[in-house]
Amino acid sequence: MSDLLKRLADVVGPDHCLTDPALIESFTTDWGGRWGGPALAVVRPASTAEVAAVVAACADAGVAVIPQGGNTGLVGGSVPGDEAGALPVILSTRRLTRLDPIDDVSGQVTVGAGVTLGDLHRYVARGGWEYGVDLAARDSATVGGTVATNAGGIRVIAHGMTRAQVAGIEAVLPDGSVVEHLAGLPKDNTGYDLAGLLTGSEGTLGVITAVRLRLHRPHVPSSVALLGVSTYDEALRLMRSAVRPGVTLLAAEVTDRTGVELAMRMSGLPWPLERRHPLTLLLEVADRGEGEGFEPEVLGNCDVVVGLDASERARLWTYRELQGQVFTAYAAEQGAPPAHKLDISIPLRDLAECAELLRQRVEAYPSVIAFGVFGHLGDGNIHVEIAGPATDDEAVDMIVLGAVREFGGSISAEHGIGRAKAHFLEFSRSPAEIATMRSIKSALDPRGIMNPGVLLADRVGA
Ligand code: FAD
Ligand code: MLT
Ligand code: ZN
Repeated sequence: MSDLLKRLADVVGPDHCLTDPALIESFTTDWGGRWGGPALAVVRPASTAEVAAVVAACADAGVAVIPQGGNTGLVGGSVPGDEAGALPVILSTRRLTRLDPIDDVSGQVTVGAGVTLGDLHRYVARGGWEYGVDLAARDSATVGGTVATNAGGIRVIAHGMTRAQVAGIEAVLPDGSVVEHLAGLPKDNTGYDLAGLLTGSEGTLGVITAVRLRLHRPHVPSSVALLGVSTYDEALRLMRSAVRPGVTLLAAEVTDRTGVELAMRMSGLPWPLERRHPLTLLLEVADRGEGEGFEPEVLGNCDVVVGLDASERARLWTYRELQGQVFTAYAAEQGAPPAHKLDISIPLRDLAECAELLRQRVEAYPSVIAFGVFGHLGDGNIHVEIAGPATDDEAVDMIVLGAVREFGGSISAEHGIGRAKAHFLEFSRSPAEIATMRSIKSALDPRGIMNPGVLLADRVGA
């Protein structure tokens, strides 16, 4: 056993320093099966002090650290890549499950990085609160992972992205030192915003160990309407006109016909509407769960189904919630590699034109067997799924990223850059911005041990 492994096992206990290939396999491959590589060990610290000792030991040995939460990330940021040199250590945060008492006065709570979103939702609901970020991977994705990726999800239209929920942070920096600022004061102009910097840093600047989160009073019960539409422009119009003035829109999600049909195949559910439309639009509003948040004369002219009770709402959501899985499941069924997944932002006014252009260009690509678009309509964030092309076929990804450039969008709306898009950062960020990011990275991590190959393509300072 190497000196480093002995030191790591001393810190976390031998049961939490895993090296058996069978035990670490699920940590070394990403959720979508597109990225992965070998690791020296998976280490599972249970406290901030243990995280600090693990990082310090790796820093002393010059070994890279890959922070990992639920490993549900979709851009390969939570798993090893093919960097040269010593094998990295995966630092799993899943045992950092601190859940402090809710502060009912400020409407905030401090929680450990390893708490899953699902557990957080259940915990705060028991105290009469709601957490503003939700996504389909809720039972695996962790608070630390969602902060590290500044995750979006299905409630952004109502509450903003994860950054808007973060009121304070505790993290271990690449030299093993701990920074903590968890007071969550509403006003606190005391220099650089370290919580803001670490949010969205994708494990490249340190390991987030705990977060102070803002909570909301719950909007439930709500009503859900699933509408058949022909175009994105029609969907955008309905998003405004179908909801009564003054009523809070909690979600506005779109799924195309291919995606709905694949969801039917996976779930056994029937087509949800009377006719097969090119797109379905899901709107959820905060009313009293009686559907009165929708404009009856607008819905009256649509092919629509409204869900009022919890099980009906869940059934209507199923078609949309399955989208993250159905293309890869279909690809596997056809003996094809995992689907390519791209997560882009397009200015709302150009969404319809861009989606149509993508359809024409991607469907003409030789190896494509399925293509679909779904996503967070109100945020101008669409997810593009392409099944068929080989895993390392970047030319097909370039069709999508090139279109983003043409329309002045972003190559990552919410999933982050990870390994997948580290070489394409300049599509969305200027040379001056990238140089500034590199300076920050070099200042905090001069030896480049924290998640090399992620976000910024080259290893810094090694
Ligand atoms: P991981 O996958 O483990 O890690 C993600 C990144 O964060 C990596 O770069 C990792 O190094 C870093 N990281 C993890 N924990 C820490 C930490 N404590 N400190 C520092 N760095 C850390 N994403 C959305 O934004 N919106 C969605 O709607 C959405 N829906 C999804 C649906 C499905 C079915 C799936 C599988 C994924 C979905 N995702 C979505 C992507 C994913 O769930 C998010 O990116 C989530 O934030 C990842 O959390 P995680 O704990 O799994 O992080
Ligand atoms: C979603 O909105 O469902 C996700 O971001 C998941 C995905 O893109 O696969
Ligand atoms: Zn999404």
